Amino acid sequence: MGDLACSRRLPELIEADRLVLRRWVPSDAGMLAATVERNLDHLRPWMPWVKDEPLSAQRRLQLLQEWEQEWMGGGDVMFAMFLGEAVVGGCGLHRRVGPGGLEIGYWVDRDYLRQGMATESAAAMTTAAFGLPSMDFVEIHHDKANLSSCGVPRRLGFRLVGEADRDPAAPAETGVELRWRMERDRWSDRQGRAGRESAEG
Ligand SMILES: CC(C)(COP(=O)(O)OP(=O)(O)OC[C@H]1O[C@@H](n2cnc3c(N)ncnc32)[C@H](O)[C@@H]1OP(=O)(O)O)[C@@H](O)C(=O)NCCC(=O)NCCS
Repeated sequence: MGDLACSRRLPELIEADRLVLRRWVPSDAGMLAATVERNLDHLRPWMPWVKDEPLSAQRRLQLLQEWEQEWMGGGDVMFAMFLGEAVVGGCGLHRRVGPGGLEIGYWVDRDYLRQGMATESAAAMTTAAFGLPSMDFVEIHHDKANLSSCGVPRRLGFRLVGEADRDPAAPAETGVELRWRMERDRWSDRQGRAGRESAEG
């Protein structure tokens, strides 16, 4: 792997308040399978990849190896969300919104919903993205009908910047995608303000 790929690598470990986001590695195959399989019904409406589940053990291992190669080559990073020893979901940073930007994706285990896990992960990934000098913006995209997902960028102060038509990719999708965006300066202002508020109690 060349120097260019190394210098483009996205972070593989992010420490948030309660959560640690750690890149999935091939030896996590069993853990990923168990987490996905107990969440199939909850994820199926919104996550296009669930249509291929359950994967064979061999295919899952291959997928994790592909994710590893992708990350090593300076592409996307896919994280497990750890709360202590427990995996409570998955999330990632994707290079599919053009140069200077990253898109965040997330899903949370059914037993940990509505506890701020997606919000905390997305906030930590946004901070990590802006830790890279080449990143100017971070986006979150979701189907218009996915109200649970919508709450995350809204809570974090992302701005709704557009709507786009596309083919529905998962059973509950309408095909209208909402696009939310956070810019580097606005994120650092918000973080500064939040820090001052918590210092003042
Ligand atoms: C979307 C998802 C990741 C949210 O995870 P989460 O950890 O429960 O989200 P949070 O607890 O951080 O919620 C953030 C806000 O989103 C909104 N929200 C989350 N779940 C909601 C629900 N079921 N109904 C309405 N609003 C909801 C709320 O405004 C919430 O803030 P609040 O709890 O203070 O009111 C989770 O529901 C999930 O895994 N869904 C299936 C997969 C998916 O849709 N992924 C996203 C694809 S774009």
